[in-house]
Amino acid sequence: MSILEAKHEAQKIAFAPLFFQAMVALKKLGILKLIAENNRGITIADIAEKSKISLYGAKVLLEAAASADVVEYLNDHTVKLTKIGYILHIDRITEVNMDFVNDVCYDGAKFLTESIQTGKPAGLKTLGSWPTVYEGLSQLPEEIKESWFAFDHHYSDDAFPAALEIVFKDNPAVIFDIGGNTGKWAFACCRYNPDVKLKIFDLPGQLAVAQQNAATLGLQDRIEFHTINVLDETQQLPAGADVIWMSQFLDCFSENEIVAILKNVYRAASEKTFIYILEPFIDNQKFDAANYCLTGTSLYFTAIANGNSKMYALDAMKQLAQDAGLQVIETIPLIGGGYHTILKCVKVQ
Ligand SMILES: C[S@@+](CC[C@H](N)C(=O)[O-])C[C@H]1O[C@@H](n2cnc3c(N)ncnc32)[C@H](O)[C@@H]1O
Repeated sequence: MSILEAKHEAQKIAFAPLFFQAMVALKKLGILKLIAENNRGITIADIAEKSKISLYGAKVLLEAAASADVVEYLNDHTVKLTKIGYILHIDRITEVNMDFVNDVCYDGAKFLTESIQTGKPAGLKTLGSWPTVYEGLSQLPEEIKESWFAFDHHYSDDAFPAALEIVFKDNPAVIFDIGGNTGKWAFACCRYNPDVKLKIFDLPGQLAVAQQNAATLGLQDRIEFHTINVLDETQQLPAGADVIWMSQFLDCFSENEIVAILKNVYRAASEKTFIYILEPFIDNQKFDAANYCLTGTSLYFTAIANGNSKMYALDAMKQLAQDAGLQVIETIPLIGGGYHTILKCVKVQ
């Protein structure tokens, strides 16, 4: 890269938040959709009129979009979408990520430096006053909550169909879902196998939502709900699981906390219990874009979620499992859309 190119790249970083908000505006105002529907070219005057904004407003947004390679000018007055523009317009994962960054992360990101210095999620105060985001999830304003859950679910939903095949090979009768959230995995298990029973463990806010969802689906007889704060080491998991399942759960904690949680799992497990860890590991991705998303997600953990967790590398997680007395007996990579790996573990006697 020449020094001039490097300078250009540095300016992209310097202005990134403004360009980001310009793209959010183009989406919210329906302008990307409008251009997509007229992609032989549409004039800026037409865009302003149809979107009910000023010509000035249309010009500044479209000039920003052209700088970001989202639109191209066919002449001084006419634009069309580029490939990047189309992705911004129609790609679901891009939409989920943008909504999550804008609604959940954007305001709090300004406190990242303080979060790094203090080890606390200093940006969380922009959403509410809880020690971590997890205590507040069920109380978030509706739009923000929707973006948080869409982000969380988009990634794990993708992995669940293939994960069910793997977990049910051993025909478990009782599954514990630690950090079971609103119950999606538990409900998928109940649909997959008519006999399996589940226990969901989570903080009270999420558990109440899961319980309500289970009642709506008529699954109260097959699922039990246990309030737990896994960071409180006096709260022990009970025995009795054939499978202990943790999906996108351990990345919510620091390395020391993960070892303590997995030791809790170890004590609850019998020699016949299979322990599954489902995670998107940063270094085990097929696509550069996936690695980029996960690295960005770590910054959300730092500034907003809890101040001390991150997305982990595969070997780092294996080491933490081993430190807690677990043996990883199988590593099943890249199921579903390609983000996740399953670690199948047993306790070392
Ligand atoms: C990222 S979500 C993952 C949810 C779900 N397992 C999935 O795969 O989509 C993490 C879950 O862990 C729960 N959690 C976070 N901190 C916790 C704690 N200290 N004790 C118990 N559960 C906790 C959250 O409430 C949330 O439901």
